[in-house]
Amino acid sequence: MNTNPTVHVLHGVNLGALGTRRPEVYGTMTLKDIEELLRGEFPEVSFEFRQTNHEGEMVSYIREARGSDGIVINPGAWTHYSYALHDALEAVEEVPKVETHLSNVHAREPWRRHSVISPAVNAVVAGMGPYGYEAAVGYIVKQLKV
Ligand code: DQA
Repeated sequence: MNTNPTVHVLHGVNLGALGTRRPEVYGTMTLKDIEELLRGEFPEVSFEFRQTNHEGEMVSYIREARGSDGIVINPGAWTHYSYALHDALEAVEEVPKVETHLSNVHAREPWRRHSVISPAVNAVVAGMGPYGYEAAVGYIVKQLKV
């Protein structure tokens, strides 16, 4: 097993507002809180955290994660229509990728039920709140141990 795995945690559009944005749906944790949660839970993992509201920048962040041990990505609303992010993720073939949503997108508006990202990733987590990120990183770390 790789003793110091590197995992990139990527957040897309509007997720910089976590903590105050619709807390009844997304909870009250900020991105910084989620980062601290993961760093505390997985001290052996070297994390790269990024957030952007610009789609092209997110493509660059995905490209940067080539050669890492895993990508956890919450694309925000891009989930539902960004073929650019789909293609970028598909091109990073060798890295395990987990699409993660705080809310249960399947229990919300019909347009949130469809993801153009899901076919390009290994696993999808939705509706577990911040714990979903722990589950996603746990899955990636487990891949390294098998
Ligand atoms: C989200 C769900 C998306 O539909 C929404 O646009 C977001 C957040 C989630 O984490 O539940 O911005 O990805």
